[in-house]
Amino acid sequence: MNRSLRAFATLMFSTACLATVQAQGKLDLNKVNTALDNAAEQIKVLAERSAENMLPKTYDSGKNFDSETGWWTSGFYPGTLLYLYEHSGDKELLALAKQKLTLLEKEKFNTTTHDLGFMLYCSFGNAMRITGDTTAYKEILLKGAESLATRYSPVTKSIRSWDFDNFPVIIDNMMNLEFLNSATRLSGNQKFYDISVTHANTTMQNHYRKDYSCYHVVDYDPETGDIIKKKTNQGAFDESAWARGQAWGLYGYVMMYRDTKNKKYLSFAKKIAKYMLEHPNMPDDLVAYWDYDAPDLPEDSKYLKYKHYRDASTAAVTASALLEMSTMVKGKLSKYYLQTAETMLYNLSTASYTAEVGSNGGFLLKHSVGSIPHNSEVDVPLTYADYYYVEALLRYKDLIK
Ligand code: GLY
Repeated sequence: MNRSLRAFATLMFSTACLATVQAQGKLDLNKVNTALDNAAEQIKVLAERSAENMLPKTYDSGKNFDSETGWWTSGFYPGTLLYLYEHSGDKELLALAKQKLTLLEKEKFNTTTHDLGFMLYCSFGNAMRITGDTTAYKEILLKGAESLATRYSPVTKSIRSWDFDNFPVIIDNMMNLEFLNSATRLSGNQKFYDISVTHANTTMQNHYRKDYSCYHVVDYDPETGDIIKKKTNQGAFDESAWARGQAWGLYGYVMMYRDTKNKKYLSFAKKIAKYMLEHPNMPDDLVAYWDYDAPDLPEDSKYLKYKHYRDASTAAVTASALLEMSTMVKGKLSKYYLQTAETMLYNLSTASYTAEVGSNGGFLLKHSVGSIPHNSEVDVPLTYADYYYVEALLRYKDLIK
């Protein structure tokens, strides 16, 4: 089905879909607690298998792979430890997190990446929230936000993602805005919030298509702000809907509604959710393929053999966003978002996706995809899939207890 036909069909059948969604399995409080207890045990396995001065990234063919602190995923492991400490009260998890935070602190000076929200807010942001220790963490967060703000251009009205191409902005960058919003709350300096809102508005205008799917990358002319090219980096092709990108966008606009209370972000997030959840290629277990267009790849596509690969990280990020959305709307829609997230989490928590404690190199979830076009991290566990899965379990638990 072409894109506009699909958008029309989605519009026509949306109400019917909404009314008929049922959780495929009940994720009751006991099951959530078991999943979190197992995660707290499993992450200690990961701790033992990772280098002391590095951060866990993934596991493949019997080997664990760690990263330096400058890699974009460095904040997720300490963040997951902190979430699991929050769940269990296990001081060993807090100590493990603190040891990694000490390594990570120097990234507050890093002005070469847009990923500082992932790196510093998922880690130090959670540390400050959970321990209540503002003295130790506030300065780190504010210095990091200053570093991120250096990448903003008033010409493109965006934060630059990568230091190659012209002025590329990737949809993932929406996730870093939470960090900037919090920096304004912490410091009273309006600058961070203004950058965040402007970036979100520019992205809304330029990354999204009529059907509310998004491009992965928009490359701007840094001198004029004109768009040079809209394309993909990790998706199947330029016009495709790379799955995790859709999830980053959804989560980003939900969070922007939370932080600004501007209804246009919530209404936008609802449209993104509709695109994702009602997509004809969404599998029954709601764990998306790595690209929404992957199952329809033509016979001559170089990625054909991957057409049915799933991305558990997309499901984890989406579930977490939907749970928050369920608190922002009322009635049937709220129930729909909650039940959809429940189905995602229920399925992620089965043996199809959750590793047995002691296996999978200590990571929680199996079957994520880093980047198929780069032949990198294909059908493996990923530290961010685990982070958002645990976050979503905690959000879900909060809503049902
Ligand atoms: N931010 C890179 C990714 O989602 O793979």
